Amino acid sequence: MYRYLFSPITINRLEIKNRIAYPSLGLLFSYDSKLNDRYTHFFRERAKGGAGIVTVGPVGVDFLGSGILALSIARDEAIPDFTKVTGIIKEEGARAWIQLFHAGAYSHPFLIDGKDPIAPSAVYSKYAKTTPREMTIEDIHQVQEAFAAAARRAVVAGFDGVEIIGSAGYLITQFLSPLKNHRTDQYGGSFENRLRFPTELIAKVRDAVGPDVPLTIRMAGNDFVPGSNTDTDTPKIAAAYQAAGVDAINVTGGWHESRVPQLPMELPRTAYAFLARNIKNAVTVPVMASNRIASPDDAERILRDGYADMVNLGRVLIADPQWPVKAFEGRTSEIRPCVACSQGCTDEIFSGRPVFCVGNPRAGFEAERKIIPTDSPKRIMVVGAGAAGLEAAVTAAERGHRVEIFEKDSDLGGQLWIAGAPPHKRELLEFIRYYRAMVNRCQIPLHLNTTVDINLIREKAPGHVIVAEGARALIPPIPGADSPEVLNAWQVLKDNPMLGKRVAIIGGGAVGLETALFVAAKGTLTPEVLHFLMAYDAMPPERLKALMFAGTSSVTVFEMLDKAGKDVGKSTRWILMDRLNRYGVTIKTGTRVLSIDNGKITWEQDGENRSDRFDTVILASGSLSEQRLAKAMADAGIPHTVVGDGIKPGKLNDAIHGGFLAALGL
Ligand SMILES: Cc1cc2nc3c(=O)[nH]c(=O)nc-3n(C[C@H](O)[C@H](O)[C@H](O)COP(=O)(O)O)c2cc1C
Repeated sequence: MYRYLFSPITINRLEIKNRIAYPSLGLLFSYDSKLNDRYTHFFRERAKGGAGIVTVGPVGVDFLGSGILALSIARDEAIPDFTKVTGIIKEEGARAWIQLFHAGAYSHPFLIDGKDPIAPSAVYSKYAKTTPREMTIEDIHQVQEAFAAAARRAVVAGFDGVEIIGSAGYLITQFLSPLKNHRTDQYGGSFENRLRFPTELIAKVRDAVGPDVPLTIRMAGNDFVPGSNTDTDTPKIAAAYQAAGVDAINVTGGWHESRVPQLPMELPRTAYAFLARNIKNAVTVPVMASNRIASPDDAERILRDGYADMVNLGRVLIADPQWPVKAFEGRTSEIRPCVACSQGCTDEIFSGRPVFCVGNPRAGFEAERKIIPTDSPKRIMVVGAGAAGLEAAVTAAERGHRVEIFEKDSDLGGQLWIAGAPPHKRELLEFIRYYRAMVNRCQIPLHLNTTVDINLIREKAPGHVIVAEGARALIPPIPGADSPEVLNAWQVLKDNPMLGKRVAIIGGGAVGLETALFVAAKGTLTPEVLHFLMAYDAMPPERLKALMFAGTSSVTVFEMLDKAGKDVGKSTRWILMDRLNRYGVTIKTGTRVLSIDNGKITWEQDGENRSDRFDTVILASGSLSEQRLAKAMADAGIPHTVVGDGIKPGKLNDAIHGGFLAALGL
């Protein structure tokens, strides 16, 4: 079905069985730079799922470049552990790749025993919040030798291919960038001089591994940093890399410090494939595309339409390692989605914690969270078809229990519909697609429009009940908040009612801010209309840009705390705040709303009372657990398990992981 995706490709002389590569992703499964069982189970599962290449990385080549957190192959003693992992990847039918890593100025002193990070020049790094030491010529040669020695060890450990990281703002990118490289010697200044460090490095690694070992490099197709390399420079860089000896080029976009997002769901699917295509025009070796290639259709299109020769599936294979197998078998609707929420991966790793996956409770827990068939199948009643109930139902059914789902609404999905309503959050609706497919596949009877009470439970007499009642919007104790003309965020996101010109939102947490975006985006130019107007030069670009953010309502958010969006993930908060700013949303922090009276809001700020009039007032003040059935069951002494928001309002991963674990415990 996916003819191009599942055709083999040759890199150097090595045949790869398909066009799917799992790229390097820091997982932080250890704090001693060593591989452990958690890593090996993780990689086994990715290889088993059918990817052609599985990359182990990032792997440091010396201490200053990777410190205590990344894996390291800086010493021979590391070889046996890496040999074990390559054995596993190859045993499962994939080619084993390693990504060799040096952070340069992106290293942090606290990760390298308080030493200074090294870089081409002593330019302050906003990302690491420190100024690195300028590398001497001796340092330069040492780092190049360290890459070569690491690559040699990697080949001894059985890796089929070696990738050098030349992307994301790390050491090689720093040498290439006039922003970071202010050297006046042979490694700085002209384009040729800035290229010298990476091309010499490639040549040394090539020498170390010999002519037949596939050697690849990852590069940004555009640094997306003003003053740094753009897509007019990168094809020349790629051509120089090929001339220096690489066998394939892996193209991503941006640096860690770019103000253009690279990972979250705001980034449209396949958005950076055009960068790969741009590189492909300049080289003859295979090119890989990257970033948000979510569905098999997307991947096939990238290959078929000539954007790239291979696709990287990063978080997508964390969310579902079986993606390749399911695509091959035509079971695409059963692929667990990566919704690019960044909560379990990027946010965790930037907080120094191991990666997990919101949508896949097994990721990183492959050994301990196995779906083992039950030897005592029970009749299970699941009440509530939100994420928690659905995950519990599907997992229980996969274990061999006989499950039925009961849902009071007319469709499954619960709060997922609300969460997926704001602009750029539509990806969350992919969970609905997935659970619908799985409910079908597991042949789970789904009783919609059915409110469950104790009588129904007694009548059905199931072996166990999973109660996933969810939550409801909370009305805060503000005079006037309960009057009928005051809306709440859930109603607005779900029913999309007509709103007034001046809209106030009370509560500036994640829900309040996303509701603000939802409201502010109403009446703006749609992407299609923008494309049309741009294509015909119908209006000046600046005017079109203004119309992209000029909606029909003005929005003001009232937040009690000193900072809005405190509950938004680290890696995505800046994007949300940036968007709100572009849409002209006013955020009043440190405000306590005292009353709502016919659209007149009175609030206290800095000891003063003020008021203003709004056409629509929307509450976004959190939620309350629904516990009607759970309480009735507890009173009646009927055994049951509560999952999801019914325990306490939480995040999507609490719902999905909680539902999953409850089903494992049955
Ligand atoms: C938690 C995390 C860690 C990552 N670590 C690396 C890395 O060490 N080296 C690298 O080249 N890319 C790294 N990436 C980028 C991924 O390889 C990949 O390009 C990115 O996630 C976009 O692809 P995706 O949308 O398929 O996930 C990382 C991404 C994430 C989310």
